Parts: sequence; structure tokens; C-alpha cells
Amino acid sequence: MSRGVGRQMHQTDPNWWRQAVVYQIYPRSFADADGDGLGDIRGIRSKIAYLASLGIDAVWLSPFYPSALADGGYDVDDYRDVDPRLGSLAEVDELIRALHDAGLKVIVDIVPNHSSNRHRWFREALAAGPGSTARNRYIFRDGLGPDGNRPPSDWVSHFGGSAWTRITEPSGEPGQWYLHLFAREQPDWNWDNPEVREDFLSTLRFWSDRGVDGFRVDVAHALAKDMSEPLRSRPTAASGTTPLDGKDPLYDRDEVHGIYAEWRKVFNEYDPPRTAVAEAWVPAARRHAYASPEGLGQAFNFDLLRADWDPDQFRTIITDNLAQAGTSGASSTWVLSNHDVVRHATRYGLPPGTDYARWLMGEGREPAEDQVLGLRRARAATLLMLALPGSAYLYQGEELGLFEVPDLPAAVLQDPIWERTGRRRKGRDGCRVPLPWTVDGPSFGFGPDGAHLPQPDWFGACSVEAQDGNEGSTLSFYRRALALRRELQTYEELRWCDGGTGQVLHFARPGGWHTVANFGARPAPVPDGEFLVGSAPLHDGLLPPDTTVWLRVRPRA
Ligand code: NOJ
Repeated sequence: MSRGVGRQMHQTDPNWWRQAVVYQIYPRSFADADGDGLGDIRGIRSKIAYLASLGIDAVWLSPFYPSALADGGYDVDDYRDVDPRLGSLAEVDELIRALHDAGLKVIVDIVPNHSSNRHRWFREALAAGPGSTARNRYIFRDGLGPDGNRPPSDWVSHFGGSAWTRITEPSGEPGQWYLHLFAREQPDWNWDNPEVREDFLSTLRFWSDRGVDGFRVDVAHALAKDMSEPLRSRPTAASGTTPLDGKDPLYDRDEVHGIYAEWRKVFNEYDPPRTAVAEAWVPAARRHAYASPEGLGQAFNFDLLRADWDPDQFRTIITDNLAQAGTSGASSTWVLSNHDVVRHATRYGLPPGTDYARWLMGEGREPAEDQVLGLRRARAATLLMLALPGSAYLYQGEELGLFEVPDLPAAVLQDPIWERTGRRRKGRDGCRVPLPWTVDGPSFGFGPDGAHLPQPDWFGACSVEAQDGNEGSTLSFYRRALALRRELQTYEELRWCDGGTGQVLHFARPGGWHTVANFGARPAPVPDGEFLVGSAPLHDGLLPPDTTVWLRVRPRA
């Protein structure tokens, strides 16, 4: 399948997403125009030239909806409005227009598993009694035991503690419990309720009508639930760790695809059809159902993000995911970093098998992080990823080679994981520290004043200003690789050239585009060809350890 080459064609090509590079913006930490310490819509708008200069195809905006920020905006008060601290609907409309004018598509985050506890319908549900229509939009149950003071099941929240919270009824008596797979401020919707389904279809149309090109679907595998009694006797797989088979009460149930079939009809009302990508933490073999053309069309593949810097793991993941993508007719996706995980420049600088949650609790001192090695491998992994067929999702700041900020003081932590685990896990704030744009100045150019999470001193040296125009910088490296990818990308084919074993991975894409990655400790030879870009320079004509290179190799006459 080919990708539109010219920009004009790219604008209307219904397949634009298949091999797109999508850049994730975490709005509260990207750029702050009004100086309140929180990034905002005008801040993003002021950086459009920068975004275009990267050579990406689309931006994905993490939630910017009204929210108390109990979970960084994934606790949504109103799906069809904008957090006044971030801007207004009119400003988002302008942003979408300006991004389109710059040739960039726009993907927004949709959070359908749960709302926030400040959502109008949840407040109505609290005010209405048990058994009411309003309660039936969420998942309320009576508690166990004579006083109903034990939760309806032993299900646990992803952020720690019970997945149930007891409410006080309007009468003032202790009352029913509601389900929340995440924080207690994030009550789960009841997707068996047609009113909930209809309301989300309206939200999809609301944003599609405003020109949004696609949706990133949060926790896409948890919407359909089997809530038949007794709940307690039916344990549930912890997402991602136990094999899922379509019958788990909470995750990856087969019926969830009925919901996305309805969504697809809405996407197809538009020209070009709106796209979607599922955040579904399911095994590779079950991913294609989310990615089918009758469903969301694409699903995140987090396998590389979870892999060590290891050639066998990379090869298997690439082979399996390309095969899986073939099954659904979708293209594969690739991700190394996002707002939920330790940044990949840090992961690769830690010994394989490091427990990152524990490492963060040690404030990043033990085991020691080797930042030189980490960044070297991160660049090599990125260049390898960008050479793969399918679409690549980048996370803001990775183009600057940012490391995790492991030593944020307890007093500033915002992630609900911190409190819900009884302060035993720090959570994800270390990858969400506001971006450095300038070498110095208040908040390193993030805004005219401070930043909502403190930035470390070393951020200045990683700033856009420090790297812009500097040949050897990570920023220049990303720009060069992305510009070349645009030129080189044609058919979604990949051929291994490396015999399948060893420390060096070598594959070719159509048109003589070769990628060679050296995972080993010794320099490796590269095929004869034109050097296009390297994650580090060749040394005496050899590929140094922890380096990836792209070459153009002419077929033998
Ligand atoms: C996945 C999002 O990426 C994460 O940030 C959020 O905490 C959970 N879903 C809950 O919405």
C-alpha cells in the first residue's frame, strides 16, 4: 500500500495514517502562553512552526478537556469543551485550522472507559437514588455483608487500592459502591446503557465536525464488562499480565468490538474517514480485532516500548507485529515512549530487568543511570523504529533526547499512583515535566513564569534553543531522519537481510532503503551503499556498537 507522496495528496489521502509519524503533545507540559504554569492551547499554537520543522505528519493531543486533573486530564468533566485554564473551544478551532494549514493532521484523545466524578451525569447519579436511570449510566452496586460495607468484589484499581468506592446517599446514609478501574475520581461508564453509547457517538461527531482527523482511544479494551452476579467469584486478569481470551469480566471482552463497529460507522460518515488508534493492552494476537477496518482501524503496539535493547527481542517483535498487522489489514504502530512510561533514553541507560517503579523510588540513584549509553541506544532504537513499515508515535521531548526526571520531590508529585499506592510508587510525573525551549530563563522558555512540575538544571542543555541548528544534536538527528523517511517511504514491505541471528539486525525496504542496527559490543561491517543518516557516525567505515544507520543500496546490475 503506498502513501501519498505530495503534500496535497497527503491532505486528502484516506490512507494518510498508515505510515504516518504522529507526535504526542501532552498539552499541560508543552508550552504555556499565559504564564499560569500550565501549558495551553495558545502555547501549542505558538509552536506550530517548530512542529512542522520536525517533519511529522500529525499531532495527537492528550486530553485538554475540563478536568480537576485527578489523573492528568484523563478524568474528563465534559467531553465537548475545553479546560478554561488551557483555552477555549474557539482557540482549539483555530489550532486545528492552523495545524492543517501547516500540513499536519490532528488526533484527539477520547476517554470512554470513565468520566470524572465531576461529570454532569455522575453528579446526577449521586443525587438520584439506587436503581435510578441516572445511576444506570455508571456501574453502581450494593456492598457485601449485612451493612453493605464491603466492596462488591475484590477487583483492584490500576492505580492501587480497591476498584470500588462507597458513596453517601442523598439521605446522608452510607450507600452503594461504584466501580472505577483507575482513580476514585474516574467512575467507569456502563457501556450496556444505550444512552452512554449515543452520547459518545455525539462526542465523536462533535470533534469530527470541528475538523479533527482521528482519535486516540483510551483504555479501549475495558469498555465492555460482564457485571453479572456473583462478581466476587470471577477473578479478572490484571491487564496485560494474564492471557486474555475474550471472556475476562473486565478486559478485552469480545463484545467490545460491537461498540467500535458503531464508532466506525460514524468515522465513515466523513471524507476522508476519521481514523482511530486503540490503546489496548492486549497480547499481539488479540490486537488485530481492534485494528480491523470495521473497528478502530489501528491499535497501539507497545511491544518495543517493553523490550530490552536486544536484537532477538526486536526481531521477534517486528516480525510478529508485521504479520499481525497483515491479519487485520491495518498497518502496525510503533512506540518507544509516551506519557505513561519512563522515557526511553533513561530505560536504555539502566541494566536490563530494572524495575523502573522501584528505581524511581530510589530517586534514580541505584542502579546508576548511564545517560551516554542510554541516549546512544535511544537514538539507535528510534532510527530503527522509523525505518519500519507502519506508523510511529513519538512523545514530546524525545526529539530533544530528554531523560526521565527521577528525583521530583514528593511534595510536587501529581500522579494519583503516588497517593493510591500509599506513596510506594511515584508514578509518571518524571516523563511529564514541562519541555525546555530555551537554555535559561524562567521555566526554560516553557512559559513566561514557572512550570507546574519543577524542571531540573540540566534541562537547559537539552532545550530546543541549545540543539537547533547544531549538526550533532538529537533534534537535528530527528529532523534529518524524519525528512528522509518522508522521501524513502513507499510500500509497506520489509525484507530481512541478516540471516536471522546475531547482534546485527539488517533489513531492507523497497527502493534500496537499508537499515542496519548494531546491538553488539564490536563494530560491524555495513553493506556498500550511500550513507543517509546514522544515530551516530560510522567509524573507519564500520558500524559502532549501539548504532543504527540508513543506507541506500543500489541493486546489483
Ligand atoms: C491510559 C492513559 O494513557 C493514562 O495516562 C491514564 O492514566 C489511563 N489511561 C486512565 O485514563
